[in-house]
Amino acid sequence: MSVHIDRFAGKRAVVTGAGQGIGLAVAHRLVAEGADVVLVDRADTVREAAAELKSHAVLADLETYDGARTALTEAAQLLGGVDVLVNNVGGAINFKPFTEFTATEIQAEITRSLMTTLWSCRAALPGMTAQGHGVIVNVSSAATRGIHRIPYSAAKGGINALTASLALEYAEAGIRVVATAPGGTDAPPRRVSRGTPSHDTERERAWFRAHIDQTVASSLLKRYGTLDEQAAAICFLASEEASYITGSVLPVAGGDLG
Ligand SMILES: NC(=O)c1ccc[n+]([C@@H]2O[C@H](COP(=O)([O-])OP(=O)(O)OC[C@H]3O[C@@H](n4cnc5c(N)ncnc54)[C@H](O)[C@@H]3O)[C@@H](O)[C@H]2O)c1
Repeated sequence: MSVHIDRFAGKRAVVTGAGQGIGLAVAHRLVAEGADVVLVDRADTVREAAAELKSHAVLADLETYDGARTALTEAAQLLGGVDVLVNNVGGAINFKPFTEFTATEIQAEITRSLMTTLWSCRAALPGMTAQGHGVIVNVSSAATRGIHRIPYSAAKGGINALTASLALEYAEAGIRVVATAPGGTDAPPRRVSRGTPSHDTERERAWFRAHIDQTVASSLLKRYGTLDEQAAAICFLASEEASYITGSVLPVAGGDLG
């Protein structure tokens, strides 16, 4: 990780889903660059992660508005306000053709990958508008154009829409709203599972493999990205270096535009 010295000095940042993966990598970089950071996650492994970073942990389930409101209130109290919110919670749960999804599974994907960000934006914006500034970076996905995770694709399309429209509605209040759209990203084995069922049959394994093949094939660079490549783009958008960028979704997917 190449660090920009003090790029976030004096900044108060909240990262959701920061217990592992991309969120944890973002928290690492923000701390290394001088921010005071609250790591929010519903898994209590986030306490360990925050302790390592000498930062704060808030345990919350962001799939409800109550959870998001409580988390953002607690974070604002710990930090004395919030300058940067990275809405990173999300992730596809099921990988199969659309017609194999049950109604309950479809709802679960939308709740995980769209509602968490919608609730967190709703909870964070009053504080940001009151202070007259703030940056929200949403983590979308290049899977807005992808196979075998259509409800997740739809959820991330929603993230792109709320990013553009919130940017329009809150620009005058001094708030930037932006997003990255990661492609497939290599990470260590997950300590906290997304709840993806085990693939017991050859048919299920083939459905899963097909989404990986599609992801690599759609990328011009023909590879997965790294956690650090994702964190770098998120932190750039969160920083003052991106002060003239709002409403944009930046694909970070080796040339896959989603
Ligand atoms: N990993 C990839 O290949 C990839 C590709 C494209 C987009 N993305 C997006 O990047 C983001 C991070 O992905 P990742 O693979 O690093 O995630 P991950 O699944 O490894 O980790 C997600 C974290 O969020 C937490 N979490 C999940 N639901 C929560 C909830 N309701 N409330 C609070 N915390 C919750 C989990 O406990 C976990 O610590 C997601 O939005 C995902 O859609 C990831």
